[in-house]
Amino acid sequence: MTQELTSPTPARQSSGPGRGPRWWRDAVIYQVYVRSFADSDGDGVGDLRGVCERLPHLKDLGVDAVWLTPFYASPQADGGYDVADYRAVDPLFGDLQDADDLIRSAHEAGLRVIVDIVPNHTSDQHPWFQDPDLARTRYIFRPGKGANGELPPNDWESVFGGPAWTRTDRGDWYLHLFAPEQPDLDWDNPDVHAEFAAILRFWLDLGVDGFRIDVAHGMVKAPGLPDIGHGQQAKLIGTQVLPFFDQDGVHAIHRTWRRLLDSYDGDRIGVAEAWAPSAERLALYVRPDELHQAFNFQFLNADWHVDALRSVIDDSLAATASVGAPTTWVLSNHDVVRHTTRLGGSLDRARAATLLMLALPGSAYLYQGEELGLPEVTDLPDEVRQDPAFFRGGQGEFGIGAPRSGADTEPATDGPADPSGQDGFRDGCRVPLPWSGEHPPYGFGPGGSWLPQPADWRALTVAAQTGDPNSTLELYRSALALRRSLPGLGDGGMSWQPAPEGVLAFSRPGLLCTVNTLGRDVELPLPGQPLLSSAPARIDGGTAVLPGDSCIWWAI
Ligand code: NOJ
Repeated sequence: MTQELTSPTPARQSSGPGRGPRWWRDAVIYQVYVRSFADSDGDGVGDLRGVCERLPHLKDLGVDAVWLTPFYASPQADGGYDVADYRAVDPLFGDLQDADDLIRSAHEAGLRVIVDIVPNHTSDQHPWFQDPDLARTRYIFRPGKGANGELPPNDWESVFGGPAWTRTDRGDWYLHLFAPEQPDLDWDNPDVHAEFAAILRFWLDLGVDGFRIDVAHGMVKAPGLPDIGHGQQAKLIGTQVLPFFDQDGVHAIHRTWRRLLDSYDGDRIGVAEAWAPSAERLALYVRPDELHQAFNFQFLNADWHVDALRSVIDDSLAATASVGAPTTWVLSNHDVVRHTTRLGGSLDRARAATLLMLALPGSAYLYQGEELGLPEVTDLPDEVRQDPAFFRGGQGEFGIGAPRSGADTEPATDGPADPSGQDGFRDGCRVPLPWSGEHPPYGFGPGGSWLPQPADWRALTVAAQTGDPNSTLELYRSALALRRSLPGLGDGGMSWQPAPEGVLAFSRPGLLCTVNTLGRDVELPLPGQPLLSSAPARIDGGTAVLPGDSCIWWAI
């Protein structure tokens, strides 16, 4: 597919909105999961025009940038993370002109734009994979084991469940760490390097401010593709270096990309989606000559407990400081159970966790809908599910809750493993956003919505929460406005302060932050005047009473 701009703009400089050079060190970046954000044409699927029309929401929220999940031409076997043409927009989401308009409009609104790049694998419909001669050298094909090559070349498992190999009609096997429709590229082939450099340039020339790099820890595999000798490899992801994840060789690719990004004006960035076994190994991705940011999934996975939180914060800050990088905090995204539900189904905790995150030094990513306090949707009927992991019985790096015993290609039928309804699959965090109105689709678009929205979301819409000082939306707006107004808050230092059991307290330039992780009130000497709170403190003379599961910013 060839797409062209209908009103072409010359190769552009980034307009450089946001907050000046090194903007990314303390930026708040909002993840738009395009198919679920806003639908402009009534087909029930969000699209680029929909994002453009809703930019005022992001401006009002006070974020610095948006990250757009893949909108490229794709058969959608994995929500667009199976790309058939990296230079074309899928008709579901619009066309190249829409992408160009969106980038320009976002810049005019003072928002930077980060797009997703998917370099570990393509779609099986990509022209390279469709051409057997090209495919042989650009993907990872191997003969099978067994007398007739009937067994996979090694014991690697797909993140989505089942073997990581599929046999072709020709009798050999190809590697796919994710779905069979997502064959892994062979990064030993210089053609692959050249093609991705050209793809990055294509989007940089259109003015994007950076890339979220999908599976940034996966492109290089251990020589000889050795067996792992473990039957549940998904459980090992993020706990150790595996022959297919977090190999040292990936860093050479990131160094090359950093040079490419630096050859453009305007502080263009790369952010790694990398599952590394420790804060130290994750920090390798953000060394000065590599990427700018790497999502801190250890923070996302931390228990709601003072010791767990304090140790993950300390480890993360120490590891990133050792390489001179900021830490990149995140609580929710399109692959994990929304943090309102994950943290015990408690909106109080979710609001407190967010204020904690936004008080920490570094950058933070928000996932669409968390500003509305949306819960995970845990009762989606099987027939509407689209997550490929559901159909392969997998759990993978994103799984939370016990693994399903799974068939290879049929939906698992044994019901959610967790009594809260969290099943570890990813459709429940991808339900389209509620914007306004009393009933589905709540202003998502003029038609329906590709996943059903709950009937009881009318109080959660953007319209319903706007202007209500107790709403989660107004809490996010206030937190982001305050964060902007306190110089040094984003990238400055922090120091822990004494606190009662169950409470974290730390000071930052201009504020003291207290987090009560207990489910009950805790008293402490009044630290100052409250600036912002996830739940109001009671002040009694010289004593402050922190409500259970709360976070409060105090002026000092
Ligand atoms: C990580 C993405 O966030 C996820 O949605 C996708 O399924 C895998 N990478 C494979 O591309």
